[in-house]
This record gives sequence, structure tokens and C-alpha cells, in this order.
Amino acid sequence: AVLILLGPPGAGKGTQARKLEQGFGLVQLSTGDLLRAAVAAGTPAGLTAKAVMEAGELVSDEIVINILRDRLAEPDCAKGVILDGFPRTTVQAEALDRLLAESGQQINAAVSLEVDDAAMVARVAGRYTCGGCGEGYHDQFKQPRVAGTCDRCGSTEMTRRADDNAETVGSRLAAYHAQTAPLISYYDGKGVLQRVDAMGEIDHIATSLQKVVSVAT
Ligand code: AP5
Ligand code: ZN
Repeated sequence: AVLILLGPPGAGKGTQARKLEQGFGLVQLSTGDLLRAAVAAGTPAGLTAKAVMEAGELVSDEIVINILRDRLAEPDCAKGVILDGFPRTTVQAEALDRLLAESGQQINAAVSLEVDDAAMVARVAGRYTCGGCGEGYHDQFKQPRVAGTCDRCGSTEMTRRADDNAETVGSRLAAYHAQTAPLISYYDGKGVLQRVDAMGEIDHIATSLQKVVSVAT
């Protein structure tokens, strides 16, 4: 199965992708995570991407498509994938269509997580992540049971992203509206678009998504 999660920064793509990964045995592929790993490893693509990400703009289609193509070719992806944060431009969407056609796969659903901009800024600005296992937390909306300690792996190493500040979040939202939102009609035209209200509680949204995914896969 191939699922796409579309939505602005803070819509909950990562949060929901991790829940679907556990429930449906799919592999979460986040181009944001892949790019952050490339930055941390200091690869040539990572060196180019770093400043672009810190400015809240989109990394070039060429870099992102190459990174995604390599990851998609790894054996674990044969189980099916949840694309989190990819595609983000029409060029990327067309490249994905070609990659899937080559491997005889098709898109089961492209889910648009529908949220309002003001809520997104609050969600992103309060976010932090466990350095041990990648579980996501939030200062207000999702605190660990014991302050500073990950519920899932017990690590006390929490990290915040360099691009999660109010200024950069504004640029990221603008990039979403200008370059990514047009994909909603792209996938609607292909008959695979599903809209999910992503303004409520995390578990409530997860339930709506599970229903959509069960029907589509
Ligand atoms: P990326 O890593 O993809 O970031 P993003 O799209 O900005 O999305 P986020 O990770 O910020 O949000 P999310 O929707 O995953 O929300 P989350 O679940 O964490 O991209 C980063 C950068 O990389 C881009 O700016 C770009 O430069 C580059 N890039 C990546 N992919 C690219 C591509 N394809 N092309 C070009 N460039 C690319 O939730 C956010 C917070 O809210 C968390 O703290 C969570 O706990 C909380 N939360 C979640 N749901 C709820 C809820 N329902 N109620 C309350 N709180 C909630
Ligand atoms: Zn953890």
C-alpha cells in the first residue's frame, strides 16, 4: 500500500504516520527526517539543504527526489509506505507517479490533514522530540508521563528542531500554501484524495484516519 499524508507544518503528519505505522505494518517515510539525517551526517545533499531548511523554504526537488528514491528502494519498504511530507510540489508528485509505475505500485490514498494556520504555529512552536526513539512531544498538548523522560524508551535526551521558531514557521506555512496546497486538487483529480479534520484530539484524528486507511488499503 502507498499512503500520502498532506498538510501544513504541525498538521500532525509525523504524529499520525507513526500511529499508522504501528497499526497497519507500513513504513513511515519522512523526507524531513531523511533530510535532517543528511544534515547531521554532513553529506553533500545535507550541506546544501541545511540553510534552506533553517529558512523554512523547500529543498530542491532534485535533492528530495533522489533521497526518497534511494529510501523507497530499500527492502523494508516493500511492506508498503506512508509518505510523510512528500510530495510537496507538482514536480515531486509527478516523479512519484513515475517511480511507483516502475515498481507496479499505486497510490491508495492521499490524505489531506485539514487544520487552521493559527493552531499550526502553536503546535510547532511547542514541539520537542525524544533523542532516543524519535517519539514526538509538546509543551502543552502531549507531555510525557514523567517530565523530561520518554514514555516509550525512557530516554531523558529531548531535542528541538532548528526550524521550530515562530519566524521560520511563517515561511514554512507560506511555502505550504504556495507550493504544496495545489497537490490537493492534483490528487482529487486522480480520485484518491481524502480529507480528514485534523483540529481535534490526536487519538480522535487517529481513529478517523484508521477508518479512511482501512477502506483504501
Ligand atoms: P518536515 O520535517 O516535513 O516538517 P513539516 O512539514 O513542517 O511538518 P512538521 O514535522 O513540522 O509537522 P507535522 O505535520 O509532522 O506535525 P507533528 O506530527 O510533528 O520538513 C521540514 C523541512 O524540510 C521543510 O521546511 C523543508 O525545508 C524540508 N523538506 C521536507 N520535505 C521536503 C520535500 N518533500 N520537498 C522539499 N523540502 C522538503 O505535530 C506537531 C506538534 O503538534 C507535535 O508536538 C505534536 O505532538 C503536536 N500535535 C500533533 N497533533 C496534534 C493535535 N491533534 N492536537 C494537539 N497537538 C498536536
Ligand atoms: Zn523515546
